[in-house]
Amino acid sequence: MSEDTTAGMPIAARQNMIYLGGLADRLPRLPIDVEALHAAFQRVQTAGPRGYVDGGAGTEATIRANRGALDRRQLVPRMLRDVSVRESRRKILGTEWPAPVGLAPIGMQSIVHPEGELAVARAAAELGVPLIASTLSSYTLEEIAAASGHAPRWFQLYWPRDRELAASLIARAEAAGYVALVVTLDTWLLGWRPRDLQHAYLPSLRGTGLANYFSDPVFRSALARPPEEDRMAAVGHFLGVFSDPSVTWDDLAFLRDSARVPIVLKGIQHPDDARRVAASGLDGVIVSNHGGRQLDGAVGSLDALERVVDANTELEILFDSGVRSAADVAKALAVGARAALVGRPYMWALGVAGADGVAEFLRNLLAELDLTLALSGHAHVDELGRGSLVQTAGWAR
Ligand SMILES: Cc1cc2nc3c(=O)[nH]c(=O)nc-3n(C[C@H](O)[C@H](O)[C@H](O)COP(=O)(O)O)c2cc1C
Repeated sequence: MSEDTTAGMPIAARQNMIYLGGLADRLPRLPIDVEALHAAFQRVQTAGPRGYVDGGAGTEATIRANRGALDRRQLVPRMLRDVSVRESRRKILGTEWPAPVGLAPIGMQSIVHPEGELAVARAAAELGVPLIASTLSSYTLEEIAAASGHAPRWFQLYWPRDRELAASLIARAEAAGYVALVVTLDTWLLGWRPRDLQHAYLPSLRGTGLANYFSDPVFRSALARPPEEDRMAAVGHFLGVFSDPSVTWDDLAFLRDSARVPIVLKGIQHPDDARRVAASGLDGVIVSNHGGRQLDGAVGSLDALERVVDANTELEILFDSGVRSAADVAKALAVGARAALVGRPYMWALGVAGADGVAEFLRNLLAELDLTLALSGHAHVDELGRGSLVQTAGWAR
């Protein structure tokens, strides 16, 4: 219920708290408007990290398509429906989420803030918001687990060429209490990213984001000297094992055999691929185009979501790519996602104000989502459906 608290404060009371703070000349520390937050991030970061977080593949048409797909759909508010008490909790793959909102996996977070993933994990813990830890993290998955408290945590695997290493990472994640495995399928090769190319900026080449590899017994056993003694050789080995673009559907059996937790495939955009995931006996998909960072000219992710939902599988379907507001979350849920994941905006909050920034951003998002439910005439998050939306032909921006 919306009376449930986050950080000791009812979600619905957050707005009043902010206005009351004004009586004592207290203003919010973080920009509330997401574009203002983005601008603040751009002001405090240097060109490399700024381009890495914000950039996309090629002409960045996919980033625009993601926004276009969200902007083309609009909520149609309904009246006189008793929205005095709201319910946003949802069970996802057997774990209760306080709201159908989670943190998308983002690698190398220390490039925007030294505390990186640990700061994000602390913020997630404060709010109980689920996080998905990336393989390419600046801190180990065990350190992130320790910082994330009781918030549900999932582990995102970049499936390495070395199967023994893959099995080791999966086993470590399960031992550290990650309750689902997300396997990202759209990044076997790095997309053509003009901003990063222009800055010749790829943090992993310097060893950033490789904590899970450098701490892994299988990875270490393949090195002549440990990463602490020969970092460049360790980076070289990472580049050799990071991915295997030859993987096909037949290889999914390896994942099923290696993991005890539910498996979710990230990067699915086609309904036939979703059907194939279901036929493979896996548990869910994240409809995502990696925030437009991989394939330029790809379909907007919310348009893809509609087709994947209509494939009518039994899969748990999550969504990301383009989410910037509570209204965007509501639209994704209305199209049929069970939950929406936030990506870049929490990196902006991290880059501006560390753990406090991410916690404040999430608090605002959850409060706005609660209001969005109420103002659109939905007392329960499950009431959002296709009938809550209209679609316009043009592009809103
Ligand atoms: C800087 C950055 C790093 C990312 N790293 C990963 C990653 O390590 N693993 C992964 O599966 N997705 C990664 N993603 C993709 C996100 O999980 C998510 O799909 C994307 O951010 C959604 O787009 P949006 O941020 O525009 O909403 C990354 C995205 C960004 C912006």
